[in-house]
Amino acid sequence: MKESTKTSKSAFAKDVDKGLSSDPKYLSSKYFYDDEGSRLFQEIMKLPEYYLTRAEMEVFTEQGDQIYKAFGADGEDFDLIELGAGDGTKTAVLVDYFLKKNADFSFVPIDISSEAIDSITRFFNERFPRLQVEPEVGDYFATLETFRETSDRRKIILFLGSNIGNFSEEQAVSFFSHLREVVSPDDRILIGFDLHKNPRTILNAYDDSLGVTPKFNLNLLKRINRELGGNFNVDKFVHYAGYHPLERAARSFLISEVEQTVKVESLGKEFHFRQWEPIFMEISQKYDLPMIEKLANDSGFEVVENFFDSNRFYADSMWKPAG
Ligand code: AVI
Repeated sequence: MKESTKTSKSAFAKDVDKGLSSDPKYLSSKYFYDDEGSRLFQEIMKLPEYYLTRAEMEVFTEQGDQIYKAFGADGEDFDLIELGAGDGTKTAVLVDYFLKKNADFSFVPIDISSEAIDSITRFFNERFPRLQVEPEVGDYFATLETFRETSDRRKIILFLGSNIGNFSEEQAVSFFSHLREVVSPDDRILIGFDLHKNPRTILNAYDDSLGVTPKFNLNLLKRINRELGGNFNVDKFVHYAGYHPLERAARSFLISEVEQTVKVESLGKEFHFRQWEPIFMEISQKYDLPMIEKLANDSGFEVVENFFDSNRFYADSMWKPAG
């Protein structure tokens, strides 16, 4: 779940305070996505090493038909709901397929950022003038709950881009269990999972040769400077990414090159860093099929079908509520 620049400062300030006061220190990657962070993430998605976006694009390009069949729309109208509006490029491929099937559906992007919603709505209105787009700004679950009261159509809910990878296992189960409470038995969810593979391939995706990923991480320190009056000297932090094959998790850190103290004005606090002390920035969890199955079952769903790219790097997994 991404948080935009519109995130209330107090929540951001509170989380920064909590993370930098902990041992080990951490910051939440959900705060990566202010305007500059979103721009850098667009750059990451185009990097040769960042295979995830292309893999999911391939799944949709090659298997839109099968995905539609697995949903089993059978001519009924439905709502296609996307949690977290990305740039819309991948979703547009699915929408294109569905429209070619003469499916009757509306597209409902939900995001906490009104800028993200405005931009995806403009994109879909231009690209598909006949498609009904019903954008919603707000929290996923609250919005889904209200939306359910206004539409009794079946729903297919998209949670794409391996966004689930940025959740810890506990957060992932809690997220889908919550989702389970706001879906009906006929609804389906389609989730993008990055799969376990050659660890080097994974590591390279988070340690790119052009150095965009370090900038993406360091931007959060700059955001603290901009929004909370911090005085981080970003030149004194280095980015380090690692992949742990047993845990199947890539993790990124910013490491203080020197002993230093950083002041954050709006918290009225100083944070001390020992030389080489890390800040844990992000987890990008990778999955295999038993892990996907377990996550589905632990949160009250069952897997209907998995759709893979040709390298088997990535899976879009369709789930239904467990009977
Ligand atoms: C948004 N999310 C799925 C990305 C990922 O792969 O974990 C964020 C990212 N972090 C570094 N590169 C990309």
